[in-house]
Amino acid sequence: MQKSFYIESFGCQMNVYDTEIVISILRGAGFIEAKEIEDANILFLNTCAIRENAVDRIVHKMSQYWHYYKRTNLEITGIIGCIPQHNSEGIKKRLSFVNILSGPDSYRELPKMIQNVYKKKNHFCSNIDFNTEENYDYIFPSRKRGTNAFISIIRGCNNFCSYCVVPYTRGRERSRSVELIILEVEKSISEGYHEITLLGQNVNSYNFEGVSFPELLQKVAGVKGVERLRFATSHPKDLSEELIKVIAANKNICNSIHLPFQSGSNEVLKKMKRGYTIEQYLEKIKMIKEMIPDVVLSADVIVGFPSETEEDFLKTLEVIKSVRFDNSYTFIYSEREGTFSAKQYEDDVPFEVKGERLRRLVEIQNEIGLKERLKEVGKKMPILIESVARKNENQLKGRTEHNRSVLIDKKDNIEIGDFVEVEIVRAAGMSLFGNVI
Ligand code: 5AD
Ligand code: SF4
Repeated sequence: MQKSFYIESFGCQMNVYDTEIVISILRGAGFIEAKEIEDANILFLNTCAIRENAVDRIVHKMSQYWHYYKRTNLEITGIIGCIPQHNSEGIKKRLSFVNILSGPDSYRELPKMIQNVYKKKNHFCSNIDFNTEENYDYIFPSRKRGTNAFISIIRGCNNFCSYCVVPYTRGRERSRSVELIILEVEKSISEGYHEITLLGQNVNSYNFEGVSFPELLQKVAGVKGVERLRFATSHPKDLSEELIKVIAANKNICNSIHLPFQSGSNEVLKKMKRGYTIEQYLEKIKMIKEMIPDVVLSADVIVGFPSETEEDFLKTLEVIKSVRFDNSYTFIYSEREGTFSAKQYEDDVPFEVKGERLRRLVEIQNEIGLKERLKEVGKKMPILIESVARKNENQLKGRTEHNRSVLIDKKDNIEIGDFVEVEIVRAAGMSLFGNVI
């Protein structure tokens, strides 16, 4: 009998992409994708290890799923992605019933691992080998999400920021071939995707046989049918003037840039091994704003890094206030086993202080973001309709070039995937509200 599988993705966009790759691999091996978890014989959670609370969440989720669905069709469970790659022993201890552990470089082995488990009841299989050649070339992702096609251009990371587990879970950097990326872009367009997002832990270090990231971006922007082009994530130390020129010169490259700064304090940045000072970061922001006047910026920020003082934190707030990001992804420092900072620095900022700093940061960011979005009221712009609104089924959710969500009233002649011209009439929270013109 053909077995069916269900896979849920957690963490970054790269994991969403990898999940689509795993679906293609499993389908290619004859497994059927179940629509609902209760129909599935095999359950995979594709996981993120970036913070300890992400690990706790997975342990809780998998335990709950196993508890409920072993009564329905579930026979095999697997934890894949960054958690087993980071600490396979730890996760095996916490979830002893799990049959399969697989890291981000061994997804091609999953069909074989499943067969092995079926052959011997209660068998356990683990493959967390690194394979620095693995780019999943010629496996086209089975996309099921909306209107934006994610395409991986570089896997792994060589930066070793002192707090970060990614270089240990995703291995060293390797860039995918230009030819295959363009092929995947063309395929996505032919499948009806209008928006492409090029993905990598640090897209700026893309280099395939001498082709740099700005050169690749220019090539992708030139593919017929690419109406919106985005990329994530950029590392400030590698973001070049050449890249900004390419963004400014191409109408279909969105004027929205995500540029994590992590901390406003040079002492903290140095300990984080980020490779830039805050002055250098702000210089880059100035250059971006000068060359792309309508740019909208977002960032990642960590509070409570070891030894972060109130003074350090105030410097972070200053950056938020001076750059005026539309949105910041804000995180409390989480010590990750094996990283440089876990070995070298004591996690000495009390939890309450970390929490209080996060609250202050979020409050100021929300205030600034809303003020920026209020400036959009009265403007007309195209939005790409992505889905029915989560909270109101009579509304549709679209996205602006600047990566902002816009809610509009549902209309019979508007479908998901359409570009619609709207006038922004209101801004509240993270959303804009629009009337169709
Ligand atoms: N603790 C807290 N935040 C982290 N990030 C990465 N590692 C950690 C950690 N150990 C954040 C960074 C990064 C984002 C993806 O996650 O801000 O840019
Ligand atoms: Fe982690 Fe730094 Fe690499 Fe980003 S650039 S994935 S924060 S090591």
